[in-house]
Amino acid sequence: MSANTPSSPPYLTHPLWLHQDFGKRNHTTDPLKLIQLTDPHLFAAPQGRLLGITTRTSFESVLEMALERSSGAQALVVTGDLVHDESTAGYRYLHDTLNSTGLPYFCTPGNHDQQRLMDEHLGAAAVGPFALRRLEGWNLVFLNSSRCDSDGGHLKSEQIAQLEDLLADDQAPTLLFMHHHPIPVQSEWMDRIGIDNGESLIATCDRSPQVKGVIFGHIHQEFSSHRKGYQLLGTPSTCIQFLPRNQTFALDTRPPGYRTLSLHADGQLETEVLRLDHYEERPIYQAQGY
Ligand SMILES: [Fe+2]
Repeated sequence: MSANTPSSPPYLTHPLWLHQDFGKRNHTTDPLKLIQLTDPHLFAAPQGRLLGITTRTSFESVLEMALERSSGAQALVVTGDLVHDESTAGYRYLHDTLNSTGLPYFCTPGNHDQQRLMDEHLGAAAVGPFALRRLEGWNLVFLNSSRCDSDGGHLKSEQIAQLEDLLADDQAPTLLFMHHHPIPVQSEWMDRIGIDNGESLIATCDRSPQVKGVIFGHIHQEFSSHRKGYQLLGTPSTCIQFLPRNQTFALDTRPPGYRTLSLHADGQLETEVLRLDHYEERPIYQAQGY
């Protein structure tokens, strides 16, 4: 279905509905590969640190590893908390660094981001509040789960309605990307700032067998859960790591990392988290928050 046909449902003609078909590769053999990077928390200053980690350095280390170890990836997805200090220079740096990979990339906002600056400096790569990319037979949906008044997340009824319209209309295997986690990750302080109406999203996904994965950032740790034929996946940050299943804020000793997503033509999703073998800097483990 074309985005410009007169009979298109409203979500297809909405200006934020971004539709692109990359379908040039023969996808009957090798799976399509995506790299998810998340929560880089970049700063305007190259030496800017978050709890002792120079976030540009750790981001570059993870990106370099991802491009080497996961070579052949067709696109990058960065799921929010892109720039910690909401600075123009931070977004310009992100734009220039991602551009240098030569790969298409998609960025969703996190609670530390400024949508206006994302739009200004990342252009069409700043996806949301509801956006679709069609990639070799798969649908990638990007949802802005951030709210301006809280570190927690929320999905608007229009976003859920747009998703339901799409899923009713299009049976292609689908991945959903957002910043916040829509289900509890068994960490009380973190679960207070998840998506406050995540159950609406989960109910929609439960009814939609073409949904194969819901992928998020925000939790700064690896997380995996299976549900009704799809996976819910959280991914380590490219900088600081939060200690899983801890009820209060605590940092983890595990190094920064990223996630690969292999999308098979038959709708199967394979995924793996990879981390740096070694990262020189140590975070401030005694920190009580960030
Ligand atoms: Fe974050």
